[in-house]
Amino acid sequence: MLEALEQELTLVAGANDHHRVLVNPARYRATSALDVPVRYSASETPWASLEGEDSEQERTMAQQPVIGRAAALDVDRRLNAAGFLQELLIDLVDLSLQGKQAHWNLRGRMFRDLHLLLDEVVDAARDDADRLAERCLALGVAADGRLATVAAGTHLEAFPEGRVEDHRVVELLVARLQTVSEVGRSRLGRLGELDQVSQDLVNDVLAGIEKYLWMVEAHRSAEQR
Ligand SMILES: [Fe+2]
Repeated sequence: MLEALEQELTLVAGANDHHRVLVNPARYRATSALDVPVRYSASETPWASLEGEDSEQERTMAQQPVIGRAAALDVDRRLNAAGFLQELLIDLVDLSLQGKQAHWNLRGRMFRDLHLLLDEVVDAARDDADRLAERCLALGVAADGRLATVAAGTHLEAFPEGRVEDHRVVELLVARLQTVSEVGRSRLGRLGELDQVSQDLVNDVLAGIEKYLWMVEAHRSAEQR
């Protein structure tokens, strides 16, 4: 499958700067937060390392155009960099949804403080997801923030249903913010090799995530630490 993808890239890359490649981040799924090694060579794409072969129908549905007149990087680098951005985009969309779930169902003495802080986390996650998605497009690669894509690709554990006590909400949010920080940082080095502008954006996004990690974690009592 990788050879086919490379062949297609080679075939169309020189044709009037219009590239047509297979992009299927929806099917790229990690089984745990950090089990996807940073292993992509410049000629590989994350979605090219999927298990099994795509059916013809899946290939058609997954096709997204990569427009040639994009950032001044070769198409391989743009695709790989966008793959990393897409991963983080998915986690941030999930974080924004989980943040709202927590904002609504939180209860306990810390209700008001956490209720307001959670909305800040949600707003930041949504803004950052928007910046990441738009960077994908600046690289000429479609972003995918659809519900099914997020559900299939998120690195975050699911949020529990029902009312949740404030101390538990703090633990849940700390764990999710840590996951975003860990996954994001594990990709930073490779992303920088591919595209420093995208790396700068992810640095900025992670600085915000880690600020909220501190602010949420600070709600833990001494005995919880
Ligand atoms: Fe609200």
